[in-house]
Amino acid sequence: MHLTPLLLPLLGLLAQTTQVDSAALTTQKLSNRIECQRTARNCPKGTILVSATDARAKYKTVQSAIDSLPNDDTTQTILILEGSYTEQLNVTRAGPITILGETDSPTDASKNKVNLNFAAANQDSTGTDDNTWYSVLVVAPTLDASLVGSGTTGFAVPADTPFGNRDFRVYNVDFDNDFAPYTDGPAAALMFSRANGGFYYCGFYSYQDTIYIGKLGNAYFYKSIIAGETDFLYGFGTAWIQSSDIKLRGCGGGLTAWKGTNTTFENKYGVYVVDSNIAAANSSIAPDIKGKCSLGRPWNSEHRSIFADTWEDGSILPAGYTHWISSGVDRFEEGITLMAEYQAYGPGFNRTARIEGGIDTLLTKSGYKEYSTPALVFQDQEGTFGDVSWIDWETVEGK
Ligand SMILES: *[C@@H]1O[C@H](CO)[C@@H](O)[C@H](O)[C@H]1NC(C)=O
Ligand SMILES: *[C@@H]1O[C@H](CO)[C@@H](O)[C@H](O)[C@H]1NC(C)=O
Ligand SMILES: *[C@@H]1O[C@H](CO)[C@@H](O)[C@H](O)[C@H]1NC(C)=O
Ligand SMILES: *[C@@H]1O[C@H](CO)[C@@H](O)[C@H](O)[C@H]1NC(C)=O
Repeated sequence: MHLTPLLLPLLGLLAQTTQVDSAALTTQKLSNRIECQRTARNCPKGTILVSATDARAKYKTVQSAIDSLPNDDTTQTILILEGSYTEQLNVTRAGPITILGETDSPTDASKNKVNLNFAAANQDSTGTDDNTWYSVLVVAPTLDASLVGSGTTGFAVPADTPFGNRDFRVYNVDFDNDFAPYTDGPAAALMFSRANGGFYYCGFYSYQDTIYIGKLGNAYFYKSIIAGETDFLYGFGTAWIQSSDIKLRGCGGGLTAWKGTNTTFENKYGVYVVDSNIAAANSSIAPDIKGKCSLGRPWNSEHRSIFADTWEDGSILPAGYTHWISSGVDRFEEGITLMAEYQAYGPGFNRTARIEGGIDTLLTKSGYKEYSTPALVFQDQEGTFGDVSWIDWETVEGK
């Protein structure tokens, strides 16, 4: 848009007024949520309390609270009080749901007090079993929508499957699949398909396949912690990981393993890691994995991943990414597979080695532009871009 100098002061004034208004609104809403999480007071009307031990709670398990929600379009809030809950959660409801974890440190995921855990992994080497049964949390409208399936295109979800949750939000909750302290079969903490959701100050802990974003899944992560060893960000859908900490508990496969889908419309399915930090999980493991961890490998040739403005510690492989050769066929296809970085930095980023490796795309500013905001990559099932109303912008911008 071309602006005449005359209009500029007026626009400045308008922008200022809007800013003041939205800031006031933000403070109000944010402070209510934070007070609710700190004290269980000032929560939205009808908030359901969960605790295994606290007498104020209506439900002792999170799943029983989820099961109690009306099957309608109303926004529902669940406050989970401090504690460790060993359960598997399954959310099919389409109406908006907000899950709050009790905390004294609402802006620090490393101090979360609500831990949802389960120990299970898919060890079926014949490949007939499906990973969906092993996750701590599954969000999908139907069983079919949650299935991963196998082969290059995965499970063929029937076209008439409805879309699931349109606005799912979680704050300050850890999801921990503690099946084994090493890679031992897919052991997801989160599986998220055919739904829109945001995770704020959450933790996701496992070794193999920690987070799965399935077909038509749109997931946004903010100031969260994601820990894993093998292919621990995988899927078909779209994940945007903003200002988060990625913790390497070892190196196996790649940090990302995405499978693209051919659609009649242009799609930008993939995983976008932005303004984040990638580092060894602790100083004991750091020397063992120095220079060894791959940023990703293509689960099929349409894999798309970008690490943008992200700091990488010395654990990252000099070439950045790796090939995935299956039955003698290299899934990396020049010009189709996008395994990229944009302005990545830190001891793990070696430009010379990246170029020599020939597999990592180092995006220029103009090459990155089309992926540079959540609104440019999240899209609905018809392929329309731009609906990011389900992201909590007040929390993201109120930082
Ligand atoms: C989740 O619940 C739905 C509805 O009851 C059920 O059909 C589906 O099998 C469940 N999914 C999992 C992974 O347990
Ligand atoms: C460091 O991380 C590794 C990988 O998760 C774990 O096995 C080990 O116990 C951790 N060590 C310490 C001292 O926390
Ligand atoms: C997508 O289409 C291309 C070109 O026809 C083909 O090579 C590729 O295998 C297809 N990928 C999937 C996942 O269907
Ligand atoms: C970066 O990679 C190049 C090429 O492999 C290598 O010669 C160089 O030593 C590396 N630099 C650092 C700081 O590791």
